[in-house]
Amino acid sequence: MKKFLHVVGARPNFMKVAPVYRSLAALGAEQILVHTGQHYDVNMSDVFFKELEIPPPDINLQVGSGSHAQQTAEIMQRFEPVLLEQKPDCVVVYGDINSTVAAGIVCAKLLVPIAHVEAGLRSGDRTMPEEINRLLTDQIADLLFTPSVDGDANLAKEGIPASRIFFVGNVMIDTLVRMLPAARAIAMPDLPEKFVLVTLHRPSNVDDISWLTQAIALLTELSEQMPIVFPIHPRTRQRLESNGVALEGNPNLIFSQPKPYLEFLALQTRAVAVVTDSGGIQEETTYLKVPCITVRENTERPVTVEQGSNVLVGRDLDRLREELNKVLTGERKVTSIPDLWDGHAADRIAKILLQA
Ligand code: UD1
Repeated sequence: MKKFLHVVGARPNFMKVAPVYRSLAALGAEQILVHTGQHYDVNMSDVFFKELEIPPPDINLQVGSGSHAQQTAEIMQRFEPVLLEQKPDCVVVYGDINSTVAAGIVCAKLLVPIAHVEAGLRSGDRTMPEEINRLLTDQIADLLFTPSVDGDANLAKEGIPASRIFFVGNVMIDTLVRMLPAARAIAMPDLPEKFVLVTLHRPSNVDDISWLTQAIALLTELSEQMPIVFPIHPRTRQRLESNGVALEGNPNLIFSQPKPYLEFLALQTRAVAVVTDSGGIQEETTYLKVPCITVRENTERPVTVEQGSNVLVGRDLDRLREELNKVLTGERKVTSIPDLWDGHAADRIAKILLQA
């Protein structure tokens, strides 16, 4: 039986590896799970392994935070001996984080086949570190699993042979479909009856302190109309605290620690609208048909705008106010769920991995 080695590193990877690991296990594959340690806080990492029922990592490279070059180089150095020792038939990498590209490069140089789950997404914005990670990983991957057909078109434009590309659907939605009943059943007695859910963590937003302060001022103003629930990523918390922004005192603007998966999914299902700069949340809200306002200039997930409930407002806070007001007054987009976002993407991936 073939041996697969999965590499994961940060929060959004964990929801993606879980279904693939499960589908491969059901087919009897041998598997090793490597965590690079890019995310290391309990509530950014450990909690997800427990909830998503992924076995604890077999190996943790414990790289921690650093500049992009430091983090990427550290992962490469620590991963190479693991790869040489484990000798997998194929390494599976996920998404677009630094761990994805770092592991990919190590494999490519040692001639170990690479499978990329969530291949082909492009924002077209090369100032975004994840875009560089996507472009490079897809160039060196042997099997490219796309979540939507725009991914296939992007890869074809970049000269990737069609024989390597497989449109399989969205593994993040596999996890959502599996966990939805449990999320719906969670009691959240302290939650306001109606609320807007907010997450912000992208450096291009939260490292711009003037923008971040104006965004918080706008959220404070909007919270008079409807309560706001805002779980804060460590990066954002650090920026807010070091600039003296008060995180307590307004009962309608509820800040919290980052949430575990189920609780965050429960929040998304109950929110009147979601405001975010995340990638995965654009997809989850599209599946749930909850209005999503994305505070980014572009998206690598255009299907969520064309078909789904997502609207891009850029970093323009006036447009954010305008779009949110539309939702609060009951205006709704007509939406549909993209093709193959059906809870079975990982089964398709596992089959192809075992046949390749
Ligand atoms: C990374 C990914 C991004 C993804 C995000 C999800 C890259 C290039 N970026 O960004 O695509 O959307 O994860 O969360 O890979 N920190 C902690 N505890 C942790 C992890 C980080 O306190 O467990 C702090 C670090 O000290 C640092 C900041 O958070 O100041 C950023 O962490 P980092 O992993 O560099 O990038 P993210 O912004 O999380």
